[in-house]
Amino acid sequence: MKILGIETSCDDTGIALIDGKKVLYNKIFKQHHEFGVIPENAARDHFDAIKKNIKEIEKPDLIAYTNGPGLIGSLFVGASFAKALAYSFGIPSIAINHLEAHVMLPYWLYEFEMPFVCLLISGGHTMLVFVRRLGDYEVISRTMDDAVGEMLDKVARNMGLAYPGGIEIEKLAKAADFQEKFVFPVPVKNSDDFSFSGLKTAAIRQICADDTTEKKANFCFYFQEHVGNLLAEKLARVAKKYEVKNWVISGGVAANKTIRRKIEEVGVANVFYPEIEICTDNGLMIAALASLRFPKFGATSLNIRCDAGWKM
Ligand code: KG4
Ligand code: ZN
Repeated sequence: MKILGIETSCDDTGIALIDGKKVLYNKIFKQHHEFGVIPENAARDHFDAIKKNIKEIEKPDLIAYTNGPGLIGSLFVGASFAKALAYSFGIPSIAINHLEAHVMLPYWLYEFEMPFVCLLISGGHTMLVFVRRLGDYEVISRTMDDAVGEMLDKVARNMGLAYPGGIEIEKLAKAADFQEKFVFPVPVKNSDDFSFSGLKTAAIRQICADDTTEKKANFCFYFQEHVGNLLAEKLARVAKKYEVKNWVISGGVAANKTIRRKIEEVGVANVFYPEIEICTDNGLMIAALASLRFPKFGATSLNIRCDAGWKM
């Protein structure tokens, strides 16, 4: 069965086509971000990106689209396009939860044993999810304020770095000469929950756009190490409670090599994560989850009911 996946929850447009486990097409169309994400522009750009590129794809048997959470205008563009295409082809369509797609992508890729625990770290979300089986999830904890990626983006912007900031911090950290050390506070120590807003403020106080590249590079190195330690410690804490063999890290921030290493060093279980290119938002994860869900739960009606705040 050929499944087309359309991802339009935020700014980047993801389009993918799979046939069973074969990936026939998977592209991400990045938008321009001189001033960060502007919701109306994002919605218009999604429309243009899908219109221009959908022609490259052969006719699918099922169309999957992101139904939430995300920017409502962006979601509507993807959902409308998907529904209209499905209607014209006379094929079913299926609404996909963006968070569930991030969480389940490594399972689709590597087919390990359930249950597992997933640390979802992205620009919009930071949460720990216990996955008993497909469709049966327990959110263990989440961030009380900013998401980890959102914090990285804001700290990077404060240093005059480009968006998305997580990648820029990772790049600059490689140039550290360790002549200056930076220390940061540890938020919510005795809890499974996350908090990044206080850490963001503490970080922003220590660095600014006018500082030298050497200082910024050292800052990025120590900041990235610190964030990696915080995330790994939360996982280790939860590992004691949920006796699972398998761990998953997913979402855009899971592309970070330092964070991956810190989590692997905790050494509590097997750690699975997507390849770097498919950690950030993409159409493949939408098609992949559809291939898991469709046989069990079936298609969605033709009505468009996007949900900007759809929880997992
Ligand atoms: O999953 P994603 O594409 O979008 C959401 O669902 O939010 O995640 C985007 C986030 C951004 O905050 C970006 O800075 C971060 O992922 N990110 C990274 C890296 N690549 C992307 N953070 C750290 N290191 C990276 N290599
Ligand atoms: Zn995402």
